[in-house]
Amino acid sequence: MTNPSGREISPFIAMEVLKAANQREQAGDPVFHMEVGQPGTPAPKKVIAAAKAALDTQQIGYTDALGIPPLRAAIARHYHDFYGVEVSPSRVVVTTGSSGGFLLTFLAAFKKGARIVLAEPGYPAYRNILSSLDLDAVGLPCHAETNFQPTPELLATLDGPLDGLLVASPSNPTGTMIKRGELAALIDYCRDRGMQFISDEIYHGICYNEPATTALKLTDDAIVINSFSKFFCMTGWRLGWMVVPEKMIGLIEKIAQNLFISPPALSQYAAIAAFDDMAEMDANVKVYARNRELLLSELPKIGLDRLASADGAFYLYADVRDFTNDAVDFCTRMLAETGVAATPGLDFDPHRGNGYVRFSFAGSTATIEAAIEQLKSWPSLKKGSR
Ligand SMILES: Cc1ncc(COP(=O)(O)O)c(C=O)c1O
Repeated sequence: MTNPSGREISPFIAMEVLKAANQREQAGDPVFHMEVGQPGTPAPKKVIAAAKAALDTQQIGYTDALGIPPLRAAIARHYHDFYGVEVSPSRVVVTTGSSGGFLLTFLAAFKKGARIVLAEPGYPAYRNILSSLDLDAVGLPCHAETNFQPTPELLATLDGPLDGLLVASPSNPTGTMIKRGELAALIDYCRDRGMQFISDEIYHGICYNEPATTALKLTDDAIVINSFSKFFCMTGWRLGWMVVPEKMIGLIEKIAQNLFISPPALSQYAAIAAFDDMAEMDANVKVYARNRELLLSELPKIGLDRLASADGAFYLYADVRDFTNDAVDFCTRMLAETGVAATPGLDFDPHRGNGYVRFSFAGSTATIEAAIEQLKSWPSLKKGSR
């Protein structure tokens, strides 16, 4: 039997694109990486220095399951400094990436069979983690009209009981954001119906027009998930955090002790310094902003003129229905014929994703410029090429 569990877990197509791109690179052909959602810059200098110091001075052993107290305190202080919100360190849970945070959240907040609403398009691991826990991911089709984000009106179209709503603002793959008033309306909708509100705030800090609102500004009942991976450029350090309602801490601690023992110790000692020099991160965001401007001005000239309003994160979600109805084939050919690696929308939206492609602009401006040059002469982007 090839799948004794019977669980249906979809492959992550972005990783397949990455594999093909790497093979192409190994064969000596150029690749312009726009498929991965990972900053091209290393971790903050102070974090790297703190990691080196910790190797000499700390025992890199197990830590408290909820994280080391100075890091929990530093994260709580970040809410004061960055958002003007007071959060008690006792509500902060340090996790193994935000990915570890999703697992803890879903196990602590939901009974078996619970139904949790996710925007489609959205980050694919939400639905795959939910289904691996025998929880039910309820996809909510979201279109350009609502900025690809859920609204109370859209939620009201869903049938049956609902137990939770998970939103991401800015979102992956669209970069679109939920404004403060809209966020408040979604939180109210959930509170009135006994649904757990979960806010994935991993792209906070990477915003181009207005700063993002944390759900903690509006309620203490939300579960807020964040990470050092994106804004702090620490993907491989596998460190994230959650802020949870006080009443959930005890249960989450027990689950965390059993699943993870503790988050990575070296990363925790180092991450205390992450908040010390926000200017370094802001400089990275300026590079993303330049890349974004470049793409927003050049992509429409080559026919990609239906782009989600990427107010945050480092992605552009392009409607490619003028050129294809098979985004996987489109991206495969784009890589083979131009060297530009991008991710088919099917990863993010199993129903409508075949008409969309996600371009990541987290890399260098030189990469983006070169990719645009390649795409300018790609025959498959000529109108009527389909
Ligand atoms: C929206 C979103 N949430 C969570 C994650 C997971 O990040 P990590 O586990 O590195 O914190 C990602 C990664 O791309 C993401 O895009």
